Amino acid sequence: MRAHPQFRYEEVANLVVSLVDSGTLSPGSRAPSLREISKQQQVSLSTALQAYRLLEDRGVLEARPQSGHYVTSRAALRLEPPAITNPPGRPAAVVISPTLSKVMQYSVDPRLVPLGGAIPSAELLATARLDRFLARAARTKGASYNTYTEPRGDLRLRQEIARRAVRWGTAVSPEDIVITSGCMEAIALALSIVTRPGATVAIESPTYFGLLRSLEALGLKVLELPTDAADGIDLAALKNVLERKGVKTCLFSSSFNNPLGSTMPSENKLKVLALLARYRATLIEDDINGDIYFGPQRPVPFMALERSANNVIYCSSFSKTVAPGYRIGWMVTKTAAQMERALERKLAFTLSGPPLLQAAFADFLASGGYDNHLRRIRRVFEYTIGQMSRTVERSFPAGTKVSRPAGSFVLWLELPKSVRTAALFDEALKNGICFVPGDAFSVSGRYGHCLRLSGAHGWNERIEKGVVKLGDLASAAATRSAAASLSKR
Ligand SMILES: Cc1ncc(COP(=O)(O)O)c(C=O)c1O
Repeated sequence: MRAHPQFRYEEVANLVVSLVDSGTLSPGSRAPSLREISKQQQVSLSTALQAYRLLEDRGVLEARPQSGHYVTSRAALRLEPPAITNPPGRPAAVVISPTLSKVMQYSVDPRLVPLGGAIPSAELLATARLDRFLARAARTKGASYNTYTEPRGDLRLRQEIARRAVRWGTAVSPEDIVITSGCMEAIALALSIVTRPGATVAIESPTYFGLLRSLEALGLKVLELPTDAADGIDLAALKNVLERKGVKTCLFSSSFNNPLGSTMPSENKLKVLALLARYRATLIEDDINGDIYFGPQRPVPFMALERSANNVIYCSSFSKTVAPGYRIGWMVTKTAAQMERALERKLAFTLSGPPLLQAAFADFLASGGYDNHLRRIRRVFEYTIGQMSRTVERSFPAGTKVSRPAGSFVLWLELPKSVRTAALFDEALKNGICFVPGDAFSVSGRYGHCLRLSGAHGWNERIEKGVVKLGDLASAAATRSAAASLSKR
């Protein structure tokens, strides 16, 4: 199927393929009826029919007499998902991969095909709308906001955030919230109030390299846990490190881990909470991707599942959905002592955040446009991940494995072991393409044959060509190393 549909029926067909790729429609399940899809997509019945005929031709759907259309067993991606990871299982000092500073430099270079940085492109963000709220706030209240504020941050913004938390079933008071400079500051604050230098923190493996940076800066060690690309960390391994290694702090994502895309099912989250209570350990959860879900419901964060919630510190931000440049994040703790320590740290590090941006952002949230915006970008990212996965399937070397995220916008690829993605990165740069090599996401050196692709810019011809070219480069690297190992025999 062409990646850039010219006709409406092709667009509808691509959408159905994305639903299959994200698992929203599983093989054997019934596809939406022609009437449903024509209503949802606002196309005529004949356009819907044309789309479904195309999908039948492609082997994605089959028509069953009197019963409708069903997803075929051949429709699913043929590439295997990555196996559960197998990190060393001992505490290790954090050493930041030398590739990382190069990655940071090139991630924002507009000349490169942007498969590196997980920063949504300006076109996908509600920038013009936000600009209007910021301009109005500056015009009407600029002078009164040009001052220091209380370290907790703008009260109306905290009220808006607390109101949104009610949707996933938890009562958060504005008093439980500290506004931070992005999710990074929230996590750094949380780590700084529950750990001392030299302590060990249990993390997912692989894990977002920014978190490794914070852990390193605070003089902390990490213990990487085996992590499944679908269901997240291995519970037996977690129990072992809490019981045998005396680990008292964990740092996990609430959903759609960056880079694996894994989300622990709620029943596993409840088991994690029970283990934490039993071993008196604290969980810092990073829910930055929670609002970008492709399925019918938002995954529930740990904090909302925990009755007492005393051993969970929640961190998030608006950076992945609407405003990376506003640097608005937040930390939630329901424990007075932790809040007191967090505010002391906040005063020590930054005094307070910029009030004008916070006030404008509170107005934006109160205006109600955010949910519509979220609905739109969820569809864009779901579509992008679907198209990107299919392009990987046809362009990367045999044996490549790919994650199946049900949210967010990154893919994790495991290439044949012989392909070193740090070397591939240099070659990709020469070809005008950026991505992130796997060794940036761990201190264990286990992911030198893996890489992360970002779909933060949505799907377009340039991105598609970049993925295809990268696949060609990876295939050539795999062929070269196979030939080299043959000649050594
Ligand atoms: C998992 C995760 N946590 C935290 C952050 C940092 O977020 P912020 O930009 O809000 O500081 C990122 C950014 O990429 C991320 O992917």
